[in-house]
Amino acid sequence: MQDSLVKDLYAQYEEGRLSETEIALEGWVRTNRDNGKIGFIELNDGTSFKNIQIVYDGDSVLGEKMRHYKTGAAISVKGNLKLTPGAPQPFELKAVESELIGDVDADYPLQKKRHSFEFLREIAHLRPRTNTFNALYRVRSVLAYAIHSFFFEKGFVYVHTPEITTNDAEGAGQSFEVVTRAKDPYKDFYGTTASLTVSGQLHVEPFALAYRNVYTFGPTFRAEKSNTPRHASEFWMIEPEMAFCDLKGDMEVIEALIKHCIRFVRAHCKDEMAFFNQFVDKGLDEKLDRVLNSDFKVMTYTEGIEILKKAVADGHKFDNPNIYWGMDLQSEHERYLTEAVAKGPVFLIDYPKEIKAFYMKENPDGKTVAACDLLVPLEGEIVGGSQREDIYGKLKEKMEKAGNAEGLAWYLDLRRYGGCSHSGFGLGFDRFLAYLTGMANIRDTEPYPRTYGNLKY
Ligand code: 4AD
Ligand code: MG
Repeated sequence: MQDSLVKDLYAQYEEGRLSETEIALEGWVRTNRDNGKIGFIELNDGTSFKNIQIVYDGDSVLGEKMRHYKTGAAISVKGNLKLTPGAPQPFELKAVESELIGDVDADYPLQKKRHSFEFLREIAHLRPRTNTFNALYRVRSVLAYAIHSFFFEKGFVYVHTPEITTNDAEGAGQSFEVVTRAKDPYKDFYGTTASLTVSGQLHVEPFALAYRNVYTFGPTFRAEKSNTPRHASEFWMIEPEMAFCDLKGDMEVIEALIKHCIRFVRAHCKDEMAFFNQFVDKGLDEKLDRVLNSDFKVMTYTEGIEILKKAVADGHKFDNPNIYWGMDLQSEHERYLTEAVAKGPVFLIDYPKEIKAFYMKENPDGKTVAACDLLVPLEGEIVGGSQREDIYGKLKEKMEKAGNAEGLAWYLDLRRYGGCSHSGFGLGFDRFLAYLTGMANIRDTEPYPRTYGNLKY
């Protein structure tokens, strides 16, 4: 007999076509309890967030065997499906045969009590078996698919940009070097210095000038020594780039992408999202509804600074209360603007050019650049985007100042071979997942987080 999958049983049940037949299952014991006469196992087979209840007869030879199955054990069961109208679960399996496939040692750390997220981080190889993390990593998988589906429907071309590169795209000096163990690390392999990419943007821009609308989506690496719930040294980023597109068009795509992903994840992860709403972030459903049903607000950096200054004057306590035009906003400032002022997602635009990357387009005021950061409650910045400087002379000057004009001569070429206005952004995937699920720490939204001072697994 071929194994049934629990996800199919629930789907058949919902469609009203689940029949009371004999089926076989394999899965892992979540709980097992019996009162001598009758026993119940909550089995999870991995295909559904929901368990299936297995019932066994305590007085039988089979019951004598099944009563000893421990939490975490891998088992097989054959039995008869029974619809159970009126019971908490819609159906159950009355066991006829069962085998223990993989037993569990006595020190198995996942017992029936609640475990803290901190504790579970120490056992990243086992946490996908818990409700929270099982839900989380399925949503992560569906969210990745949601991203691709959005761009596929819009005709964007997916470009695989390299992980090993010669440039530090953002120019922030936060890249990891790639070396072998040879004596002269700089000459040993590529004959040049090499680093892990901090952003695929510079490599994806040339493709926008060939296909119009493109994106890259992959891991990026930053040696930021920031010990926060939002920073990891390896994280995934979605970076679209659109030709013949200005900052306004850029923001329209960001907003549409985020709304599409919320709808997609809700449609395909109903049980998981219901779980997050009930156990992780009680206001999650309402929050996501509000995001879907309103337009994202837009605020200039200059307006943001005025609001923050006023907040300080009115007695709001920031760790860094020294607010001035030209400063780089800290996460507490960004969070104030999105949480206390906008009360939802807000685009902060037109930043001082000195605090932003060299490739951003200078505004006519000569002081600011056409940049947009999307700030959301709890996370702060989840998107950084901009219109790109398309005037050859201006870009060259900035790159000479930044010292990368020579190494990135090919990037400058784009401004002299059929250049046009183009824009793009980077959406931090792991932060976005945190926002969608209410899980507050990037050490949880990443299956195997890499953070400053911490490399396990
Ligand atoms: O704002 P960033 O640095 O923008 C870029 O990299 C541009 N090249 C994007 C572009 O225009 N194509 O990073 C983009 C996003 C941030 O908004 C944040 O969500 C995420 O990447 N991010 C991080 N996520 C986790 N850990 C870190 N250390 C992150 N650094 C940035
Ligand atoms: Mg940024």
